[in-house]
Amino acid sequence: MPPALFTPFTLRNLVLQNRIVVSPMCQYSAEDGRATDWHLMHLGQFAAGGAGLVWIEATGVEPRGRITPACLGLWSEAHAKALDPVVAFFRKHGGAKLGIQLAHAGRKASTDVPWRGGKPLASGAWESVSASAVPFDAGWPAPRALDAAGLKEVREAFAAAARRAVSIGLDAIEVHSAHGYLLHQFLSPFSNHRRDEYGGSLENRMRFPIEVFDAVRQSAPGLAVGVRVSATDWADGGWTLDDTVAYAAALKLRGCDFVDVSSGGSLPKAKIPAGPGFQVPFAAAVRLDAVIPTIAVGFITEPAQAEQIVASGEADLVAMARAFLDDPHWPWHAAKVLGAEAPYPPQYARAKK
Ligand SMILES: Cc1cc2nc3c(=O)[nH]c(=O)nc-3n(C[C@H](O)[C@H](O)[C@H](O)COP(=O)(O)O)c2cc1C
Repeated sequence: MPPALFTPFTLRNLVLQNRIVVSPMCQYSAEDGRATDWHLMHLGQFAAGGAGLVWIEATGVEPRGRITPACLGLWSEAHAKALDPVVAFFRKHGGAKLGIQLAHAGRKASTDVPWRGGKPLASGAWESVSASAVPFDAGWPAPRALDAAGLKEVREAFAAAARRAVSIGLDAIEVHSAHGYLLHQFLSPFSNHRRDEYGGSLENRMRFPIEVFDAVRQSAPGLAVGVRVSATDWADGGWTLDDTVAYAAALKLRGCDFVDVSSGGSLPKAKIPAGPGFQVPFAAAVRLDAVIPTIAVGFITEPAQAEQIVASGEADLVAMARAFLDDPHWPWHAAKVLGAEAPYPPQYARAKK
């Protein structure tokens, strides 16, 4: 029996060669939202390294939904075309599948790149939108609360981006509904103070994120489509694990193929007890209680740790971000430790001692 981490897994029609996922990672290296040679290098190295599924970073469905001016976008055909070389590389090299995370930053948009401080832009800023006109933090601009026309625009932007993802041959879509970005801003009582049918009760706060999910699902019928969630706001009065399970169960009924379970991001100063595998119990709870495939993520670095998560049934897939930045060939090294076979491209086969 091969280790569980190196067994295939199927999401809808998509067969992954193993359970190892490269988590979405913003690269702040796009030009006017278009992918560059950096993206080909960044994503291509993970295809060569033998992961099962690689996520393209948070990709803005409209220009105002970008976190920074250097974030990737998918709001035009030119943006889709700029990703063609990346898709072509994945088709030609390695067996990894390639998905994209569709995103809208809402009130956390219009900031500088992290290595220049990550604060709201001093020049070149744009108006951000959200569920309510509540700024993220002191010193941040108040976003404009989306009205009915604005909600429709955002839904349609997600749908159009999903159609573009299909048209360029991507394998999967993850709707970003975590980390305090727009859809999470609707879910969390901290950022959603609306009095209409999109605010108040849990059902109302889930309404817009679910409408967006439906729009994406319908625009990409053949693709694996899932959602990234923050399982908790890590603060009293905020979004909770029970809410997450209810959200996951509702999404499942609407054709959601997986839930990628992260946490936090709603509040600038939440106390998050981060440590090895600290979000895994959330993925396990969602998998068990909403009966849906889950991706576990967060401080997963060791082969034995990843194997244990999959083998014990806490999650179906294991995603890593920083471990892959440190070692793009993590799956090869995990295979050696666990006694499994990892895929090597022939050009690199001599590394397999
Ligand atoms: C450089 C970097 C960029 C990130 N960008 C994104 C992103 O685009 N979308 C997202 O949902 N999470 C993003 N994250 C969070 C990761 O996907 C992941 O959830 C987090 O880093 C925890 O996993 P780790 O402990 O394996 O790094 C990013 C993390 C890093 C380190």
